[in-house]
Amino acid sequence: MSAFLTSAWNFPTRILTGIGRIKDVAETCRAHGVVKPLVVTDRGLAASAIVAGVVERLRSAGLQAAVFSDVKPNPTQANLAAGVAAYKAGGHDGVVAVGGGSALDVGKCVAFMQAQTRPVWDFEDVGDWWTRANAAGIAPIIAVPTTAGTGSEVGRAGVITNEATHQKKIIYHPAMMPKVAIEDPELAVGLPRYLTVGTGMDALAHCFEAYCVNAFHPLADGVAIEGVRIVDAYLPRAAANGGDLEARAQMFAAASMGATAFQKGLGAIHSVSHPVGARYDTHHGMTNGVMFPYVMLANRDAIAAKMPVLARALALPKADFGAMLDWILRLRKKLDVPHTLAEMGVKEADAKAIAADAVNDPTAGANPRRLSEAEFEALTLAAIRGDLGGR
Ligand SMILES: NC(=O)c1ccc[n+]([C@@H]2O[C@H](COP(=O)([O-])OP(=O)(O)OC[C@H]3O[C@@H](n4cnc5c(N)ncnc54)[C@H](O)[C@@H]3O)[C@@H](O)[C@H]2O)c1
Ligand SMILES: [Fe+2]
Repeated sequence: MSAFLTSAWNFPTRILTGIGRIKDVAETCRAHGVVKPLVVTDRGLAASAIVAGVVERLRSAGLQAAVFSDVKPNPTQANLAAGVAAYKAGGHDGVVAVGGGSALDVGKCVAFMQAQTRPVWDFEDVGDWWTRANAAGIAPIIAVPTTAGTGSEVGRAGVITNEATHQKKIIYHPAMMPKVAIEDPELAVGLPRYLTVGTGMDALAHCFEAYCVNAFHPLADGVAIEGVRIVDAYLPRAAANGGDLEARAQMFAAASMGATAFQKGLGAIHSVSHPVGARYDTHHGMTNGVMFPYVMLANRDAIAAKMPVLARALALPKADFGAMLDWILRLRKKLDVPHTLAEMGVKEADAKAIAADAVNDPTAGANPRRLSEAEFEALTLAAIRGDLGGR
């Protein structure tokens, strides 16, 4: 019992929230000694009013800001290398990362990698590999999320796709935690419904999977339970009306809560979602949304005892596993989350290769039940076919 009670707890960075809060971006840079920020965003947002507004605020405060935007969804090593080159060429002294998880992850990895001599894959989130890094040179990061899902704004990792191996790798260093996150709900107003739902499903999967991890972390568990409740209450509102600022603000909170909670670990939703995203370029969060019920069923015996607490937080009429399964199926339907991986283009012929990567994904170890490669293959096939085993 005493070994079980041994743990290490981290809580997130400073978060500035509220409508119009982006006004504080320049002052926040200065407070952290950043006067030549590189604004890292993605190709889709490069020409948006969001990025123009951030750059305008930085420049009018006397900061020499430049923009790097060669970032694709599911960003690659090439995107990261180009960002590091832009950072060095411009003589920057910090990063303002603006966008969804893809832009935030690249921005964080640029701030990290510009100080390193070893290749990025040497810093995968494995054991103590992060101690290989030159920590002193890591540049300060200000994170400005424009999607509410990944929680990358409060996390110590970035996810980069290795195109050679079709694998998503988690790059980790404690100093990749942004100094400040600015969560302004107005920046999410233009996020299309598909991405609002997809990113919301990511936040939900983070809270749910983290809560189900067997580790002693009551602080994270409390955050995760409330995060599940917030997504249930506000994601349908944000999806129905992108201009609902209260719903947008609540979903930003849920996203940061998910990433706070998943310091406990994640599970098989993410283990399968990572290789699927790396192969098919599907949206990460939407892929999680698809996987949700199949993974719940695969984990049933290991998580059933934890379901009553979640069911009560959601005020469901019954407080058991079946009620939670019905709840997620209802929520997915209401939000038009695809029911099968086949609808996302995933082929049965790839199930074996997906399972081989899933069993080795760093998230697999925390799944409440150890799944073998064969079980991952069966799980992937069930999700491709929409097979809920009679449910
Ligand atoms: N670092 C972490 O801890 C962590 C956790 C989970 C996922 N991830 C990674 O994050 C990535 C996914 O991030 P995401 O789901 O936020 O999507 P994303 O960053 O890939 O963005 C998806 C699309 O949305 C657009 N977009 C973003 N904000 C917008 C806005 N306000 N208005 C209009 N369009 C907007 C972007 O231009 C892009 O085309 C994946 O690579 C995933 O692996 C990282
Ligand atoms: Fe995720």
